[in-house]
Amino acid sequence: MKQKILVLGAGGQLGMELLHSARPDVECVALARPELDIGDRLAVADCLSARAPAVIINAAAYTAVDAAEDNAAAAHRANAQGPANLARSCRELGIRLLHVSTDFVFDGASSHPYTPAAPTAPLGEYGRSKLAGERAVLELCPQALVLRSGWVYSRFGNNFVKTMLRLMAEREQLAVVADQVGTPTWARGLAGALWAAAARPGLSGIYHWSDEGSCSWYEFALAICEEAVDLGLLAKSLPIRPIASSEYPTAARRPAYSVLDKTASWRDLAQPAVPWRTQLRCMLADMKEAQDE
Ligand SMILES: NC(=O)c1ccc[n+]([C@@H]2O[C@H](COP(=O)([O-])OP(=O)(O)OC[C@H]3O[C@@H](n4cnc5c(N)ncnc54)[C@H](OP(=O)(O)O)[C@@H]3O)[C@@H](O)[C@H]2O)c1
Repeated sequence: MKQKILVLGAGGQLGMELLHSARPDVECVALARPELDIGDRLAVADCLSARAPAVIINAAAYTAVDAAEDNAAAAHRANAQGPANLARSCRELGIRLLHVSTDFVFDGASSHPYTPAAPTAPLGEYGRSKLAGERAVLELCPQALVLRSGWVYSRFGNNFVKTMLRLMAEREQLAVVADQVGTPTWARGLAGALWAAAARPGLSGIYHWSDEGSCSWYEFALAICEEAVDLGLLAKSLPIRPIASSEYPTAARRPAYSVLDKTASWRDLAQPAVPWRTQLRCMLADMKEAQDE
């Protein structure tokens, strides 16, 4: 019999990539927000006991980083109470919980990649709510696995790559922040790491996943432009100017450095480390193919 795996947050970019890359040897049940609001404790308990999956992958979250500054209660409901609801029911029902978290649990003061054990110190409400969610998951369901990632993009949903492609087609020039460094992560690769984790029942605790290497948002934008022109997704290149974060004020402060150390994931999940630029090209090619269909 196939293992039943419930994917929550199935309407989001990671959720969509999880469904797109589901392994054929599992029965994948996808629930988007209208089918299950993870902030509703009773609905979570009822849903999990009725569906009785072996594993849950929680890709549901409040991800509007700037809006979270004025909507802390909504962010905490989805990102802290929701995971707590899942963890409580998972422990009671013997379900394995894989939960996704973020590099925004760090303050960005480091100059070398953050290990899973590195001290956390989120700068904003989104990061605080996600950290509270991680803690609730591991406290209420110690067998759970938390996978942190960062700078996630996909052809589905809203993300930096799609915003850049739109602006690059509309404008004559762009200015992009150059003093925040991280690692772009194609959601398809993150989905692969989650499927690998689902297939390894002994793993628990905090792991990190992103693509390999690092860059600033400015360098990421340059690469998007070059690859998109090369693939025919953009008609022409345009000038892109590096700016400081102070020239692009946002409601939420963001870590200046949020590169993640993936050593433990490469070892335990046996997933290949693919350079972020290679993954960017794969995603853009995937987008082009979907457009041409
Ligand atoms: N995006 C990034 O750069 C990034 C970076 C690091 C980590 N992550 C983490 O990766 C995971 C997936 O993020 P993503 O990029 O796929 O985000 P996304 O595209 O915003 O998807 C999140 C999904 O969760 C749903 N959702 C929100 N509140 C919910 C609730 N109470 N109950 C059920 N579903 C709810 C959203 O539905 P609605 O659209 O209806 O609100 C949306 O479909 C999250 O844990 C996120 O924190 C993301």
